[in-house]
Amino acid sequence: MASVIKHMDASDLDALVNISQRTFLETFGMNYNAKDLNDYMETRLSRQALGAELADAQNVFFSVWDEKTDALTGYIKIIPQYCKFLDDMDEGHFEPKNSTYLERFYLLKSFQGTGIAQNAMQATLDWIKQNTESDAVHLTVFCENPRAYTFYQRFGFEHVGNTVYMVGDHADKEFLYLLKLVC
Ligand SMILES: CC(C)(COP(=O)(O)OP(=O)(O)OC[C@H]1O[C@@H](n2cnc3c(N)ncnc32)[C@H](O)[C@@H]1OP(=O)(O)O)[C@@H](O)C(=O)NCCC(=O)NCCS
Repeated sequence: MASVIKHMDASDLDALVNISQRTFLETFGMNYNAKDLNDYMETRLSRQALGAELADAQNVFFSVWDEKTDALTGYIKIIPQYCKFLDDMDEGHFEPKNSTYLERFYLLKSFQGTGIAQNAMQATLDWIKQNTESDAVHLTVFCENPRAYTFYQRFGFEHVGNTVYMVGDHADKEFLYLLKLVC
C-alpha cells in the first residue's frame, strides 16, 4: 500500500488526540499498571498536552494516510535539531552536530506490515533532508519492541547506546538509534 504524509496543524488536534491515544494503547497499554498508564495519558497524550505540542513551533507532526482509501493510519512527530538523549551515546560513534529527534512513529495495528510505514519513513527522511540542516536523525525504541527496531535498522539506523524512558513511575530500558545523513 502506498502512503502519504501530511503536515498537521492546530486544526488537526482532534485527529491527533484520537490517533495518538489509540496507537499508544494498542502498542503499549498492556505493559503498565493503571496508575502509570493514566499518568502518561494525562501528561503526554491528553488533549491539553497534545494541543500545547502542536502549538510549539519547534515540533513537526505528520499524519500518515493510506493513499488508496484515504484512511488515517498513523502519525509521526519529529523535532529538528533537538539533541535530547544524545548524551547517552556510547563512545566511538559519529557525533552529530544537528540531529533531528524522531520522537514518535506510530501506525495503527491494522496497517502494520502493509508497506505504509516504509513509505512514510522514506517521506519523513526526505523531508528532514530537504527542510533541515540535520546531519543525523536519532530516536529511542523500547528494548522489547523488535518489530520497531528491525524496521528502523532497515533504513540504516544503528544502535549507539541505551537510555531510559519514563511512563508514570515505570522506567523502560530503551535503545538509542542513530542514522547518519551525511557521507
Ligand atoms: C514500528 C512500525 C512503524 C513498523 O511498521 P510496520 O509496518 O509494522 O513494519 P514492517 O512490517 O515493514 O517491518 C517490521 C519488521 O519487523 C519484523 N518483525 C515483526 N515482528 C517481529 C518480532 N516479533 N521480532 C523480530 N522482528 C519482527 C518484520 O519481519 C519486519 O522485518 P523485515 O524488515 O526484515 O521484513 C509499526 O509496527 C508500528 O507503528 N508499531 C506500533 C508503534 C511503535 O512501536 N512505534 C515505535 C515506537 S519507538
